[in-house]
Amino acid sequence: MRLKVFMVFATILLIPSARGVINEAMEAIEMIRFVTNAILKTWDVVESLPANGIHDKQQQLMNRIEEVDDHIRSLEQMESLRAALTIETLIREFHQQSALLHKLNVVKDLTSIVKTRYTQLSDYVQHKGALEAGTLLKFAEWNVDPGTSSLAFQLDLLHVSLFGDEEQADNNSDSSNTLLSQLTINYEESPDQMCVAKHSAQQFAFQLFTKAALTELKAYSIMEFSWMTQRELGKGNFTQEIALMRQNYQRRMNASVRVLSQVMAGSGRVYWRCDPGKKKHVSGETYDQVTQFLQGYVENEANLGEDQSCRGTCSDYQETRSNGCYKGDEQLCGKLPKCNGKLYNCGGMDSELQVCPSGGNSSRRYDYIQPDGPILGRKSSSGKCETATETASSSSYYLFWRCSNCFCLCDEPGPLSDRFFNLRDSLSDFMANKVVTGVRFVKINRVFHLQLQQGELMPRGAINVSSLEWLAVDAYHLTDVDVRNDYDYHTLTIDSRAMDLDEITSGSNLSLVVTGARFRVWGKHLNLEVRFSYFDLPTGRLVEPKRNSVWLDNSNTETTGEKPRQALDLTEPDVSTASEQTSMPLSKSNQFMKFTSSSKMKDAAQSTVPFIDIQEVVPHPAVPLAGLGIYHKGRPGFGGFFAPKVVTYDYSQYLKELQSQVKAN
Ligand SMILES: *[C@@H]1O[C@H](CO)[C@@H](O)[C@H](O)[C@H]1NC(C)=O
Ligand SMILES: *[C@@H]1O[C@H](CO)[C@@H](O)[C@H](O)[C@H]1NC(C)=O
Ligand SMILES: *[C@@H]1O[C@H](CO)[C@@H](O)[C@H](O)[C@H]1NC(C)=O
Ligand SMILES: *[C@@H]1O[C@H](CO)[C@@H](O)[C@H](O)[C@H]1NC(C)=O
Ligand SMILES: *[C@@H]1O[C@H](CO)[C@@H](O)[C@H](O)[C@H]1NC(C)=O
Ligand SMILES: *[C@@H]1O[C@H](CO)[C@@H](O)[C@H](O)[C@H]1NC(C)=O
Repeated sequence: MRLKVFMVFATILLIPSARGVINEAMEAIEMIRFVTNAILKTWDVVESLPANGIHDKQQQLMNRIEEVDDHIRSLEQMESLRAALTIETLIREFHQQSALLHKLNVVKDLTSIVKTRYTQLSDYVQHKGALEAGTLLKFAEWNVDPGTSSLAFQLDLLHVSLFGDEEQADNNSDSSNTLLSQLTINYEESPDQMCVAKHSAQQFAFQLFTKAALTELKAYSIMEFSWMTQRELGKGNFTQEIALMRQNYQRRMNASVRVLSQVMAGSGRVYWRCDPGKKKHVSGETYDQVTQFLQGYVENEANLGEDQSCRGTCSDYQETRSNGCYKGDEQLCGKLPKCNGKLYNCGGMDSELQVCPSGGNSSRRYDYIQPDGPILGRKSSSGKCETATETASSSSYYLFWRCSNCFCLCDEPGPLSDRFFNLRDSLSDFMANKVVTGVRFVKINRVFHLQLQQGELMPRGAINVSSLEWLAVDAYHLTDVDVRNDYDYHTLTIDSRAMDLDEITSGSNLSLVVTGARFRVWGKHLNLEVRFSYFDLPTGRLVEPKRNSVWLDNSNTETTGEKPRQALDLTEPDVSTASEQTSMPLSKSNQFMKFTSSSKMKDAAQSTVPFIDIQEVVPHPAVPLAGLGIYHKGRPGFGGFFAPKVVTYDYSQYLKELQSQVKAN
């Protein structure tokens, strides 16, 4: 008997060491199974203890409850730590969808009923010394009394609300009409929820399941203890009742894991990062920019040609240079910084216009340009030009010809033009069994890098959360002697400035996880390549990662016969951060988009768009990744952002295995 007690304690003591690993989603199911077993073992222990009277028995019972309560508490704690999403927040989300809302409210009410009773039990545990013998008995009877107030009844309701009525459904029925499925679909369709929860739809489904499973576990433990109390206090054996209760609990767990596994198999695993919130874009913190690449520029026609003539029109100059200040021109030229690069796509402007130059360190040349007609760009909130405006008029003549003001795009490489993308590999420390768990863009020494977060891979696809870290960026300077263009980095140019938009995944190969990423220049486009390594799910070990790794990519170009890559164009894009609405993903895989200048009308073509979102894209809880991608997000009429996205590892397969294990036991 002593040995038995010892064993219970030993199993209970195992929990804290397991908890480090627990942060991983899948462990929750195992944890719940563990606690369930601990409850069952408690029976044996209490049964076998010698007891001196009812009060003594009650004390011993309470001690047991206390232990189980501790486990449930820690389970709950870890669940609440990673759950930014509560049933209450979901209810707020669904104010318009009455059907879903109604079901959710039922779940909420049932959850709170169980919670209340559980708190009551915990209170008794706390004051166990001062408890009357009859109090506990009354509580016990109330809990397992047949009728609508019984826990068994409430639990059935909860289960049916969330996982459907399995009596009506056959075993292989589709789970799409269950609340779990509907909420998951809804989650996938509503980025607002993902912004708060910070994980993929598949992770969401699992989280919701865990919440419900915890409630069921609490209720189950109350019922077990209620029967136990009655039995120990001599109210009967209740053999049949207890057997029935356990069977029902098992049946419900079986059914809910089955529904979960179906929902997870069908739910999306892409996680992308939402905008930081209205008016919360911060340069260098949430986004960054390619600068002074094809920027709007005003120049007098006289300065565009070789001979300072003005015989033609501005649009004769589709590719030229500014040839210095035409003699006698005392206007813009000479007062504002000249474009020391090529000028493209010139066009005519009004004869008389005012230019407001940007001050400070801005990468813009002008805040706005004010011709006779509508303003190009926008005035600051003060309505005034922060610096002094300059006037340009085309009243100058050369012989008989009038020289116009032209508006061109200036491509001026130089210290103010950041337009570089790293081409070197970024790899996780795979020899130390570390895999990629997150990604973000960073601009360091004027070069954009795709920075990776890594974490140690553990058994069954878990991640050791305390090992998470961002990999150091290979922060070279462009001027370093051993650094070369189109080898170490790519420089955007007028004819090589496209970003390929792809989602590179391991497909259905469940043995592959991401261990690296890089850009290459492919068909003059920046093209993402992702490295995958082979791993063993049960042990969580990468298997000879040096040998068993592959770089995958999408090599389609515009001219590929089979599935040519499609161009995605921006129409009159305004400054990306000026949008009132939050960005939505606008691209699909196998597309590309060119860096270009913002709208002439809306922004005087002063910005290079899209911007680059530099927020971290890291799902919570941490998971291995089955893919990485680059996409474009924004709103029509704005430049939007290029941003990375991730595909979380597909756990639904593991869940199926878990189910068959349960069956085998
Ligand atoms: C579901 O499976 C269980 C056992 O696996 C069986 O007893 C039950 O009849 C099945 N239900 C239906 C509706 O097929
Ligand atoms: C209750 O169980 C005990 C042993 O577990 C057994 O000896 C006793 O006969 C049972 N009583 C009834 C009424 O079933
Ligand atoms: C411009 O940049 C320099 C160096 O980066 C900084 O010291 C200065 O404060 C900046 N000025 C403004 C107006 O932002
Ligand atoms: C988790 O990572 C930390 C930090 O790298 C390490 O100290 C610890 O031993 C790891 N835990 C396990 C269970 O491997
Ligand atoms: C998964 O990928 C690995 C490594 O490329 C390969 O060895 C294995 O055969 C693949 N498995 C399947 C099922 O495709
Ligand atoms: C639950 O599933 C397990 C394993 O599949 C099985 O042994 C058990 O009988 C099931 N319980 C019920 C009540 O369906």
